[in-house]
Amino acid sequence: MSFDLVLFGGTGDLTWRKLMPALFQAWRHGNLPTQGGGGRILAVARDERSDEQYRQYIREKFAGVVESKQPNDEEFARFAELLHYRRMDLSRPEHYAGLKQWLDARGADKVVLFLATAPDLFPVICAQLGAAGLNGTNVRLVLEKPLGHDLASAQEINRIVRASFSEAQALRIDHYLGKPAVQNLMALRFGNALFEPLWRRDSIASIQITIAESIGVGTRGDFYDRTGALRDMVQNHALQLLTMIAMEPPSSSEADAIRDEKLKVMRSLKPFTPETVVRDVVRGQYKAGAVSGAAVPGYLEEPKVPAGSACETFVALRTEVQNWRWAGVPFYLRTGKRLASREAHIVVNFRAVPHAIFDSPAAARRPNKLVIKLQPEDGLELHLLAAKGGRAQQASDMLSPVSLDLDFDKAFPSERVGGYERLLLDALAGRLSLFVRSDEQEQAWRWVEPVLAAWVADSSGPRPYMAGSWGPAAASALVARDGNAWAEEM
Ligand code: BG6
Repeated sequence: MSFDLVLFGGTGDLTWRKLMPALFQAWRHGNLPTQGGGGRILAVARDERSDEQYRQYIREKFAGVVESKQPNDEEFARFAELLHYRRMDLSRPEHYAGLKQWLDARGADKVVLFLATAPDLFPVICAQLGAAGLNGTNVRLVLEKPLGHDLASAQEINRIVRASFSEAQALRIDHYLGKPAVQNLMALRFGNALFEPLWRRDSIASIQITIAESIGVGTRGDFYDRTGALRDMVQNHALQLLTMIAMEPPSSSEADAIRDEKLKVMRSLKPFTPETVVRDVVRGQYKAGAVSGAAVPGYLEEPKVPAGSACETFVALRTEVQNWRWAGVPFYLRTGKRLASREAHIVVNFRAVPHAIFDSPAAARRPNKLVIKLQPEDGLELHLLAAKGGRAQQASDMLSPVSLDLDFDKAFPSERVGGYERLLLDALAGRLSLFVRSDEQEQAWRWVEPVLAAWVADSSGPRPYMAGSWGPAAASALVARDGNAWAEEM
């Protein structure tokens, strides 16, 4: 198979921070379909450069990538043969005609157009691509978030995309869906019969999804301040994880079979009202503190953040999936910047035994949980109680928590594929199941909008939390109300 991958925004942050390292890994792993017809990666941006200058620019950017993922000179020289550069003014039709000529001259089997630009350029790029005929059946368009800042703007982008591209051609990225743990979750749930009978309200007491970051907003203060944690992380990443946990088994592994089930979950989420936002949603903003022993500034002291901003850098919320499988089971979502550590996981807490015969402190807590770890490593832990053996004198000493621990990096050492790498390979292969369909994305906006509206109307603003903590105390109170605790408090 031959391919042409065009990166609009070819000199931008996303390209050199995420896409190029992922493409290099795909190439290094031998996963890029460069055999046969071969592949080309064309970076498009505003300024004048030669292919050689662009390769040099990317070479230098690799210095910022973790060492094990950096190319040596020989590897980079070979990878760089795939890289090309083209100057384009994205408002000029003749530049799209030129791009089309460049692509047509080779006639690759697959053409993937990746919009890694600022989102306000999406409408003009989509319209121009359509007008230039760069939307044939071998073309796919990849869109990066943010796709809108509310339902209306997301619908507007989808309308513009749809005018030139079919739903099957438009791939919306949520890079969390590319993380290996998400595929493990699918494999765990639908490749094994073991958990399915337990995967419901009768056996599961609560589910927690945590995406904690230790970094602050860095130099993105202006962008972040217009976005906030709810739009940046909850509307997309956290909700996508929730749908993967809660969905019914799809009838096949076809993309739409999976996405239909995810959409049903989104539609079953308990809608927020102004009253329930106050009760079930906690927003926070970090103040100066220390992360891993180093002093860090508060959000309001970060570069480009407007004075007195009420933007939230932390959200914790409680919701429910209102259907037969999950009725009454609390789903807690939590995400934030400048938290104690970089950690993403899903905790499935199973119910306590119906009748306790061990009078033990360990048994009094909920001992059975399944932890799906996404970050920093991906893996699975199943927590159980076991008999300690030895010389326990009383029944209360007998039990001790243990965990079965699966480390996927160790189990499949040579086969780990990172999030963007997975999604880029899927885009090239036309596999759609890990991309978000427009109706899912719009439904997610529909669900978060009442929260956004309630916050606008509520001048009390976000609760402060210290950088390096686990967020405002109100987040602990939110789960404690149901008799639960966040994973690190258990
Ligand atoms: C992005 C957000 O979508 O995800 C960033 O815009 C966030 O604010 C990032 O830092 C987190 O991704 P990951 O893969 O590093 O957890």
